[in-house]
Amino acid sequence: MAPYELLSAAAEFLTLHHTEERLGDPARRIAAAHAEIAGTGTYRHTTEELVFGARVAWRNANRCIGRLYWHSLRVRDRREVREAEDVAAASADHLREATRDGRIRALITVFAPDTPGRPGPRIWNEQLVRYAGYPRPDGGVTGDPRNAGITALARRLGWPGGPGTAFDVLPLVIQGADDTPRWFALPDDAVLEVDLAHPEYPWWRALGLRWHAVPALANMCLEIGGICYPAAPFNGWYMGTEIGARNLADADRYDLLPRIAHRLGLDTRTDRSLWKDRTLVELNRSVLHSFDRAGVTIADHHTESRRFLTHLGREEGKGRRVGADWSWIVPPISGSATPVFHRMYETVERTPAYVHHPEAHARANGTEMV
Ligand code: ARG
Repeated sequence: MAPYELLSAAAEFLTLHHTEERLGDPARRIAAAHAEIAGTGTYRHTTEELVFGARVAWRNANRCIGRLYWHSLRVRDRREVREAEDVAAASADHLREATRDGRIRALITVFAPDTPGRPGPRIWNEQLVRYAGYPRPDGGVTGDPRNAGITALARRLGWPGGPGTAFDVLPLVIQGADDTPRWFALPDDAVLEVDLAHPEYPWWRALGLRWHAVPALANMCLEIGGICYPAAPFNGWYMGTEIGARNLADADRYDLLPRIAHRLGLDTRTDRSLWKDRTLVELNRSVLHSFDRAGVTIADHHTESRRFLTHLGREEGKGRRVGADWSWIVPPISGSATPVFHRMYETVERTPAYVHHPEAHARANGTEMV
């Protein structure tokens, strides 16, 4: 970011902070930040600014249906941490603190920011917990095909690989102050998983399906007032359809619909039996049922849709306009049975924000050179 852009982004954010938190005239704080930028090329957020910025970045996430609780985001300030092994240890702590045996809470850990001539650390994994994808000789993939790139990359960096199941937890791949990415196994006690059963079919368990409890996005940059925090893993809790209608069902992910439909005895020869639709419903019931039984927080898409409309109403009451992306907000099954389907949204982009930088994609896909 050019210096003049940083100056104006800082002023804009500090003004927003002062206005919303009723802190009075921001002029002095802006002048101090400008002096700091003139002297060092960057400026440091106060803890209060960091907490406010991280929460508002969630509020501004157009693709997120779960924003009603944006103000309850907990923020772990770890801006002094920049070495790869310290980022790994603090990320494992993040998972423990977010998981709490299943009573999941929204949490972000913020590591060192990018500053002129001194980049902050980077987590190359898309999420803190992801399952490996191993290519098979027959052209298929064991595990999650989405993570085949980062799996291969971890192997190139010396990770010996897991036991070879469809649900091997990947190590973290972290680039710290020394610039070379290294891999770190996640301690078992940091990763809670749920085995999938079905409320009516006793044979379902034998499918051997499972998913991790906490979705913790790890390669998005938290951008606040012109400052980029490239390593700022954050999590909420799952909505069932993310697992049951996408991760386990998409043809380019675990692609389980044909196999389960077969077990259900459905006619898979014709689309018109609606075997995919019927299987999706049972798979999603299985996810909600299993998380509930395990005492792990999970939302269903009906409840979460209503909460989102509550959020819109609340924000409107505060005089704030909410941006949203219809194609992400509407759940992937039974869209029209939820109220979020039947309306339109503004797509305005605001900062602070969680943003994907293109090179982060390359890293997560293992396509960046090492
Ligand atoms: N859809 C992603 C996944 O299935 C997680 C994205 C964030 N989701 C959330 N509920 N906070 O892993």
